[in-house]
Amino acid sequence: MSPLRSRIVGSGFVTGQHLVTNDQLARMMDTSDAWIRERSGIETRYYVEKGTSTSDLGAGAAKEALADADVGKEEIDYIVFATMTPDHYFPGCGGILQDKMGLGHIPTLDIRQQCTGFIYGLQVSDALLRSGEARTLLLVGAEVHTGFMPWTRWDYLFGQGGEAPSEAEREVATQFRDRTVLFGDAGGAVVMRAEEGERGLLGFQLHSDGASFQDLYVPGVGFAHRPFVDEEQVRLWRHIPEMNGRAVFKLAVSRMPQAVRDLCARHHVAVGDIGLLIAHQANLRINEAVQKALGLPDERVYNNIQKYGNTTAATIPIALDECRKSGRIRPGELVCFVGLGSGFHWGAALMRA
Ligand code: ACO
Repeated sequence: MSPLRSRIVGSGFVTGQHLVTNDQLARMMDTSDAWIRERSGIETRYYVEKGTSTSDLGAGAAKEALADADVGKEEIDYIVFATMTPDHYFPGCGGILQDKMGLGHIPTLDIRQQCTGFIYGLQVSDALLRSGEARTLLLVGAEVHTGFMPWTRWDYLFGQGGEAPSEAEREVATQFRDRTVLFGDAGGAVVMRAEEGERGLLGFQLHSDGASFQDLYVPGVGFAHRPFVDEEQVRLWRHIPEMNGRAVFKLAVSRMPQAVRDLCARHHVAVGDIGLLIAHQANLRINEAVQKALGLPDERVYNNIQKYGNTTAATIPIALDECRKSGRIRPGELVCFVGLGSGFHWGAALMRA
């Protein structure tokens, strides 16, 4: 009898409304197109218009994915939503998206594994589908990172007039430049179903290590404080992520290739059998190092961070959608997803396309 496998039957994505170049970011802080390209590979990213939230981007992506799958919204019976930038502290975005899309009282589950959120979401979705708890599932990864940006002169940034930031405001923004230049706003989604056959998700290799979480976290705005947010925390910029970039870089370039190797070994395939590697898009230099460590040629690795920056839980479904729609994924080939992010959480998934 053929195995029951979870398949991705549709995909889609949307971005924030404003395309922002590196030169535009240099209007807000001391940075340059050359620095950002050289260190991260990023050329542009998208930011939302004020008022657009993570659930809006998630719903936009979900509509695209439903249309691509040719699945009616009444067929969706489970939602899994991964984000680290939810519309509200609670509840999560799953139920909000369900209501916005009119999907009825189906169960929704929120995942907060940051840059590995989509891969963790794939594992949970796979288990729900193969156990029969869900038949047609919507998995969403979406982020609005612009709420973390430490500036207010959005019109000036977007080239819509307004006043330039003062020297003092530029100084503040410059303090956070190692982080802010990396992120963009976007949402990606897939529709999944379990079907008998060889095609679909084959397995996962996931890990977490909470020991060094302070290398990438939001120090304030949390219930380790009483009250969980106050003026002092905001004055000290404790609501903005702190990141030890070098430590994150080092972890990523060792743990991501190891997860891929371990996963391939468990499934008795060679790393060289991977037809397409889709890695989380945090930094092009990280992905180049991962590719080199795995010995994969350029045509078997897909990167799009140049256009979108790091969109956290949305990077993998966006890259997957672009690959599916451009014919970059050939039926029957092995696709491997891999990522690492705050937590720290990391891991990989294998899929037979
Ligand atoms: N523009 C210009 N100069 C900058 C900028 C900037 N945007 N940012 C930092 N610099 C300067 C620094 O001030 C420093 O200057 P100095 O030498 O005079 O002190 C110099 O550039 C080097 O800074 P480093 O931080 O050492 O630069 P590095 O080469 O490590 O690159 C980067 C920084 C791009 C952040 C890199 O470390 C990185 O990508 N790390 C991984 C981060 C990551 O993947 N995060 C994503 C996970 S996201 C998630 O899970 C939510």
